Amino acid sequence: GSSSELAERLLIWYRNYRRVLPWRGTNDPYAVWVSEIMLQQTRVETVIPYYRRWMEQFPTLQHLAQAEEQQVLKAWEGLGYYSRARSLHRAARLVVEKYQGQIPASTKELMRLPGVGRYTAAAVASIAFGQDEPALDGNLRRVAARLFNVSLPARSPEGEAQILAHLRAHLPPGQAGNFNQALMDLGAMICTPRKPACGDCPLAEWCQSRRLGVQEERPVLTRR
Ligand code: ADE
Repeated sequence: GSSSELAERLLIWYRNYRRVLPWRGTNDPYAVWVSEIMLQQTRVETVIPYYRRWMEQFPTLQHLAQAEEQQVLKAWEGLGYYSRARSLHRAARLVVEKYQGQIPASTKELMRLPGVGRYTAAAVASIAFGQDEPALDGNLRRVAARLFNVSLPARSPEGEAQILAHLRAHLPPGQAGNFNQALMDLGAMICTPRKPACGDCPLAEWCQSRRLGVQEERPVLTRR
């Protein structure tokens, strides 16, 4: 398929306004993986110094696999949710033992690793391996629910399926990593939970909920 006009506008905006973040200078799968695990439950500003120190201390998957658990937990200290560090460590050892040190490229294989759920698998597959996979976390869900005016509860299976179908329809082939990260930046900088800056949004002319004036009523948050 070819790129949608919406995707092209988004990618141009991303090239011009993207946040400069330490994990964005690389598509090393290990580095991308570490960053996405840290970013799962922790804010970007908090993650930055931890990510930098981690990559100095454990620059490769092999370094991490060979480290003692105590070193690993010490490096994670302060980030919280320590099961993430234990899973990352276990997964590194598993990849070394079972995958000859090569992090798998498909979401299906990635999801077999400890600590890697659907979101992380899609993020790593798209950013590090260029796979055409839409990623969906809380921020991306909000942005997409507004853009495509999804009125179903965004976290319900039906709402999520609808959001994914819309994202897939616009996913620029070979550019999913940039597309996903562009939507993350849009969610952080423009399409914020409260008072989104629609006047500055590169996608305003495509935004279905803005057209109807219901952007602050999206996403619909009913529990699953
Ligand atoms: N949150 C989760 N993944 C991210 C990424 N790659 N860039 C910025 N924010 C994120």
